[in-house]
Amino acid sequence: MNAHEHDASAGRHEHRHRHTHGHGHGDTDVDWAALADHLESNAEVHLPAHLQVADRLRTLLGPDRPVRRVLDIGSGPGVMACVFAEAFPDAEVLAVDGTPELLERTLTRADRLGLAGRVAVHHTLLPEDLNGATGIASDLGTADLVWSSKAVHHLGDQQGALDALVGVLRPGGMLAVAEGGLPMRFLPRDIGLGRPGLQARLDAAQEGWFQDMREGLPGSAPVVEDWPAMLGRAGLTDVRSFTALLDLPAPLDDAGRAFLHAQLSRLREKMDEALDAADVETLDVLVDPASEQGILRRPDAFLLSAVTVFTGVRASS
Ligand SMILES: C[S@@+](CC[C@H](N)C(=O)[O-])C[C@H]1O[C@@H](n2cnc3c(N)ncnc32)[C@H](O)[C@@H]1O
Repeated sequence: MNAHEHDASAGRHEHRHRHTHGHGHGDTDVDWAALADHLESNAEVHLPAHLQVADRLRTLLGPDRPVRRVLDIGSGPGVMACVFAEAFPDAEVLAVDGTPELLERTLTRADRLGLAGRVAVHHTLLPEDLNGATGIASDLGTADLVWSSKAVHHLGDQQGALDALVGVLRPGGMLAVAEGGLPMRFLPRDIGLGRPGLQARLDAAQEGWFQDMREGLPGSAPVVEDWPAMLGRAGLTDVRSFTALLDLPAPLDDAGRAFLHAQLSRLREKMDEALDAADVETLDVLVDPASEQGILRRPDAFLLSAVTVFTGVRASS
């Protein structure tokens, strides 16, 4: 497979949600290219959980359903696409995303890991490239495993997106979507700085941002986010879910701290309208690289994160 499979359209779209739909939760535009480093360090820190996920999917698929082709929809920097290439040695993996810079990272990563011939990329801006109700643009081909992590919630019509993903599944193939799950935890309730309960308030602010983001998406269609029910409505059988846990206790290593520093810096930037002045001040201390109380130095930082995956199978005939 050509590693640049159908990349002629890369750059055709600059993929950003150009909508500011604020109810006090800031700008809901997402500049994915600017987030590339953060997305990659997030995925790398979560690698132990992602390896568990791939292992679990391999077990669920079982020996009777050989995996020859995997699609990763909204693949970001390609960390999971490479995990799949290693977990399914007989498969070719196609990483599909709307951000050319992230597809480039995917190819660089695959090359570095010796997977260059097995991981290809495809530039697609969803939902424009969704091909009606029957499936995704036919040039994506079909797959035994279709994976999508934290991408469907960036599409206005989530049910329509799932319906389309089912359309590219081979009979007996599996759709696996990582959505929902739990908010990450990385600090105790009382950190001896500001008002206790900062993380709960950050979660609430992010929920508000998320709702504004969803309402501002093109073609935004409200749906009750009951993922098993949505997978069932998309026509899948044997619908299940499982959760992989990332449990990195204190004291956290440097990579974990660097990821949290980027995460908190981003929250400081985009959430300051939704937080009170005292919490913004606390965030300022947490992101200060020189402060003993900053996330890069404090001894109590940990990382507890849950990746929830919903799966379903396309009937064999
Ligand atoms: C939150 S990131 C998730 C990346 C990766 N799957 C992960 O779990 O780390 C969302 C990804 O979806 C892609 N994306 C968002 N909206 C898209 C759209 N309309 N069409 C194609 N890709 C899109 C972004 O470029 C980004 O890489």
